[in-house]
Amino acid sequence: MLPAGQSVERAASGSKSQFQPGHKIPIQHLTKPGLEADMADPKPVIDQISTEDGGYQLYKAAGKLAGKRAIITGGDSGIGRATAVLFAMEGASSLIVHLPEEETDAKETKKKVEECGSQCHCLAVDLRKRENCKKVIETAVKTLGGIDILVNNAAFQHMLNDISELDEEQWLRTFDTNIHPFFYLSKYSLPHMQQGSTIINCASVNPYIGRGDLLDYTSTKGAIVAFTRALSNQQIKNGIRVNCVCPGPIWTPLIPSTMQTAAMEQFHAVPIGRPGQPSEVATCFVFLASQDSSYISGQCLHPNGGVMVNG
Ligand SMILES: NC(=O)c1ccc[n+]([C@@H]2O[C@H](COP(=O)([O-])OP(=O)(O)OC[C@H]3O[C@@H](n4cnc5c(N)ncnc54)[C@H](O)[C@@H]3O)[C@@H](O)[C@H]2O)c1
Repeated sequence: MLPAGQSVERAASGSKSQFQPGHKIPIQHLTKPGLEADMADPKPVIDQISTEDGGYQLYKAAGKLAGKRAIITGGDSGIGRATAVLFAMEGASSLIVHLPEEETDAKETKKKVEECGSQCHCLAVDLRKRENCKKVIETAVKTLGGIDILVNNAAFQHMLNDISELDEEQWLRTFDTNIHPFFYLSKYSLPHMQQGSTIINCASVNPYIGRGDLLDYTSTKGAIVAFTRALSNQQIKNGIRVNCVCPGPIWTPLIPSTMQTAAMEQFHAVPIGRPGQPSEVATCFVFLASQDSSYISGQCLHPNGGVMVNG
């Protein structure tokens, strides 16, 4: 493992520039689940943080997660990948869980984590099956030696404009992917956790704004917020904090693989005026996983480009 802070020196300030206000993402349609390797330029930003002048600098680590062991579902790409890499820069090892068809992306994340001096194990399973959720926990205990952090991040979405088009199978698939594994993985992880462990769930801005073209997805994300609050109230007596991150529009494979053209053209339409990058969400996961957030539980963070939300 590298000493804390070494990763800061790994690369000089990036030469790329941040999405500027009004920046439209490339219109591209990928087959689900979508690979980050196939995304058009500009590629998602993983380990760099936006500077005041619209550029990037490498994330500055400070050993905040030294020795911690994390499970990150959907850790192969997008927000999950950025979280695995920032966790590694902070000293944590991880087990990343992904779908079998995303192995190319998973290998790249593993490489990036290992470059930071941390372990990264990969497990290709479909989390809709309860027995696969059990396998995730068994694999984490075996390969990492325990579990300190559970990041429930995997999700499925498919845009449809009207409830008449949304068939019952899709409704069930979305709930089977987006909320049921959060329950299974939390239930099976908790016996391996101890005081100071954390569970962090990924929801979305959508339950706060009631997005109509993602009725099923938005409903599962509302369930995640409620699940976070209830599980926090239940587990805080054991010293285990449970929190939630609710991203707005973030440039990840989920977007070109699931969004219609018109929605992609409006992807920058938030008060900050540009899409967000995975690294800008991963910093929230680092904060909630570390002792920096020791007095915060049952709460949601909103890296959403400045959209006002209640609750
Ligand atoms: N990108 C955005 O604009 C945005 C906005 C709000 C919320 N989010 C949330 O962020 C989280 C991460 O998404 P992302 O944008 O980084 O996209 P992503 O496509 O990179 O990640 C989604 C991941 O979910 C995993 N997944 C999907 N179905 C699965 C299944 N059945 N079994 C196992 N794994 C499965 C895949 O491995 C995939 O990598 C999701 O919860 C998503 O809802 C994203």
